[in-house]
Amino acid sequence: SAAEKDGHDWFMRKEIHEQPRAVADSLLGRRTPEGHLHLDEMRLSDQELRDVDKVIIIACGTSFYAGMVAKYAIEHWTRVPVEVELASEFRYRDPILDYSTLVVAISQSGETADTLQAIRHARTQRSKVLAICNTNGSTIPRESDAVIYTHAGPEIGVASTKGFLTQLVACYLLALYLAQVKGTRYGDEIDQVMQQLEAIPEQVQRVLDDASSIYAMAADHVDTRSVLFLGRHAGYPVALEGALKLKELAYIHAEGFAAGELKHGPIALIEEGLPVLCVVPPAGRDQLRDKMVSGIQEVRARGARTICLVEDGDDAITPYADVIIRLPRVPVLLQPLVAVVPLQLFACELATQMGHDVDQPRNLAKSVTVE
Ligand code: G6P
Repeated sequence: SAAEKDGHDWFMRKEIHEQPRAVADSLLGRRTPEGHLHLDEMRLSDQELRDVDKVIIIACGTSFYAGMVAKYAIEHWTRVPVEVELASEFRYRDPILDYSTLVVAISQSGETADTLQAIRHARTQRSKVLAICNTNGSTIPRESDAVIYTHAGPEIGVASTKGFLTQLVACYLLALYLAQVKGTRYGDEIDQVMQQLEAIPEQVQRVLDDASSIYAMAADHVDTRSVLFLGRHAGYPVALEGALKLKELAYIHAEGFAAGELKHGPIALIEEGLPVLCVVPPAGRDQLRDKMVSGIQEVRARGARTICLVEDGDDAITPYADVIIRLPRVPVLLQPLVAVVPLQLFACELATQMGHDVDQPRNLAKSVTVE
């Protein structure tokens, strides 16, 4: 009923709008009064975590993209090497695992069969398994050595939204916690990132309040047959997630690429009028933003219609953007938290305008309990 959906037409739209609260809840109570990071449900000892010399993240679907972001964060803050692997591929390649490998399973439902089988395999190899999960008491956390629960609340829409944002939060928390335990980052830096995270709910709210341009954009794309998404660094998994959402909800062919890889093949796809959504990294010392800008110039010169997600105040892109969507200013590692929101809104709105059932897309299930 409309009441269950809080006045929204779809659970998905309700869940998109719940994201500021979901992120805030997932951050709640994670710091002691002395400013130490504290994870309640962390059942691995500090010594066990100090012994970790490799992290392998396994997940499926949207959760896999949260894992890709986690790799950037964990490696950056802890210098521990991280692999991210699709759960369905993991155990079939005889992965190298031992007691010093931490396997992180990310699953909103906690019931995905591919992910469950992967952690069972990891445990037979004596690896420690940590679950990031939204569903209390579900199978994956029950079979893991430790768990970080996300506090998104029940997610009903098949396509994950608040589940994803809170998984990202849990991944950042895990990365910072590992950094704290291993001593690779100092307290004041961890504190600074926590403050940046605590500002995210309000920033996501601003993106939601600003959605009218995204709705107008959706109306322009109801006859579109293909959309490309480009990103770099932590924006690359955002591009992949944006493309997945369009496939899941609007049944439109969509692909995400790392922008630097364009010239190695995908640029051949560009033709007159092809919409290309670009997640532009914040301007910084590493010139990622500048390289992205030149990639955007390249596709536009070949006729693409460029739709650019750009941080507030960055005007470098203006001459090459057909449409600009403004994002709040956040550090590059945290940008997925704000950048994915317009892409969720875009897919949800476009699918709605095309007349599709957004909560129950064809052929999909909320949790897939077969391999
Ligand atoms: C299904 C859903 C996806 C989800 C994936 C992983 O395929 O349709 O939206 O991302 O499973 O689910 P999990 O519950 O393990 O995060």
